[in-house]
Amino acid sequence: MTDIRHFLDLDKMSASELKDILALGDSEKAGKAPFGVKPLAGKTLALIFEKPSTRTRVSFEVGMRQLGGDVVTLDADSSQLGRGETIADTARVLSRFVDAIMIRTTDESKLHELAQYATVPVINGLTDQSHPCQIMADLMTVKEHKGKLEGLKFAWVGDGNNVSASFIHASPKFGFALDMACPAGYRPNQGLIETANAEGGKVRLTDMDSALAGADVVVTDCWVSMGDEDYDARMEALSPYQINEATMAQAKDDAIFLHCLPAHRNEEVTDAVIDGPQSVVFDEAENRLHAQKGVLLYCLNGLPS
Ligand code: CP
Ligand code: NVA
Repeated sequence: MTDIRHFLDLDKMSASELKDILALGDSEKAGKAPFGVKPLAGKTLALIFEKPSTRTRVSFEVGMRQLGGDVVTLDADSSQLGRGETIADTARVLSRFVDAIMIRTTDESKLHELAQYATVPVINGLTDQSHPCQIMADLMTVKEHKGKLEGLKFAWVGDGNNVSASFIHASPKFGFALDMACPAGYRPNQGLIETANAEGGKVRLTDMDSALAGADVVVTDCWVSMGDEDYDARMEALSPYQINEATMAQAKDDAIFLHCLPAHRNEEVTDAVIDGPQSVVFDEAENRLHAQKGVLLYCLNGLPS
């Protein structure tokens, strides 16, 4: 079925859809209830976690309930997924019970298989390749603090991981420049950057000094993501990329600091920065709730006309 409104990856969505979803999230946060009170009453969201989560789990559970709906949460280990039931069969079965499915999984291919076989909307709650819900919250946060997104310069410093990939996807949609400083072996996929730039993005791989100079937003993430195994090699390659008071000072004086959390304090970011005046990481965490309410309304109700 082609008319299902999935939320799979930012590069699969139009700029106007993404901006409308953010606007829905803003309205929910402001208490304007654009679809009325409890617009998702009678609807159920299934949450599938093949990896740990705090923010994604709680923000989807609370968000769905605030919108009047219900949730059911499955962990791989305690469901038949952990015993080898296929994603396709899981999709077919859950579609008989629930109105939407969010999945946090390893490979993007599992997300797409779920969307292929589900007859209800599927939401990407993180894969090894992307984390679009996080970036919607991040962009909401930047807009709140900077008043706009277009024309800003973001510096991504550290591992070119799943979260960074969704920032790359977002650059052409929202018109911000993204300078990325990542060491050899930990750079994002070049093809992603080329595709984003061909669509009007302003993404550049560069060194740390150039990335930070003039940056309005400084973003990093952990050096060892869930599922990564090369801990020692990562620590060695990534330790020059720490955001500390000295490196943060290379950005604009009024730059803000973002991190999707959980933070590995005093690895990718020091306490002084993450707890300092430029850090907006807890606004960012809160905005997972509001931005995802926009995503849920989009998937389950559509956009207001
Ligand atoms: N940022 C984020 O996705 O956090 P969790 O892993 O706690 O869900
Ligand atoms: N890059 C991190 C993000 C966690 C929210 C990971 O995948 O583990």
